[in-house]
Amino acid sequence: MPAEALAQKRKRWDAVLDRIPDDQPMTGIEVGVWRAILSRELLAARPFLRLHLVDPWQTGKPGTPWWGSGSVMPARSQVEYERAYRRTIEVIDPWRERAIVHRTTSALLADDWSEPLDFAFIDGDHSFEGCSIDIAGWIPHVRAGGWIGGHDWDKPERGQVTAAVLSFFDRDRIEVDSESTWFVDLEPNDIPRPT
Ligand SMILES: C[S@@+](CC[C@H](N)C(=O)[O-])C[C@H]1O[C@@H](n2cnc3c(N)ncnc32)[C@H](O)[C@@H]1O
Repeated sequence: MPAEALAQKRKRWDAVLDRIPDDQPMTGIEVGVWRAILSRELLAARPFLRLHLVDPWQTGKPGTPWWGSGSVMPARSQVEYERAYRRTIEVIDPWRERAIVHRTTSALLADDWSEPLDFAFIDGDHSFEGCSIDIAGWIPHVRAGGWIGGHDWDKPERGQVTAAVLSFFDRDRIEVDSESTWFVDLEPNDIPRPT
């Protein structure tokens, strides 16, 4: 593809930005951050966005679902993860008052969460188990009328995201957008009531 066409290609952040207004406050979470490439685009383009970023920045362990998912991410070394974490802190610095970094797993954070969210973007552990845990963990924290979405729909070489998403939502509710992003608008019935 010629360089100009490549530069103009719609990216994953364009799909996310289409779902975040530029004139009103919104709070969301990005699950799986790596080097904050997506985070930077969102924070730069949406001045009223408060963005939580969660990632353990921890190399994978053989034998875990993440290791077996097909993604190259779990095999990256701890040195690379430390570098990616430092890069994230650097990248988000201009927006540090509204970019909140959580260095832990998505599941641990979701368990203790209390702030209502307008959206959750899931791009962490792409195994069936990992992606399902993240979807189940964040749905209760997103308001009805908000959305949940993620990356790597229909990318079997990167994990089992499609099967995990389909285990929660009927296909006709799932909107697939640029760079294999997927989105579902949440309805009141999707959100479990506190017991
Ligand atoms: C593909 S990268 C994220 C890319 C980023 N969202 C972007 O678009 O630029 C996947 C990240 O998920 C993280 N991850 C893996 N398991 C996780 C978990 N249980 N909770 C949160 N993040 C996790 C990895 O550490 C890795 O940095």
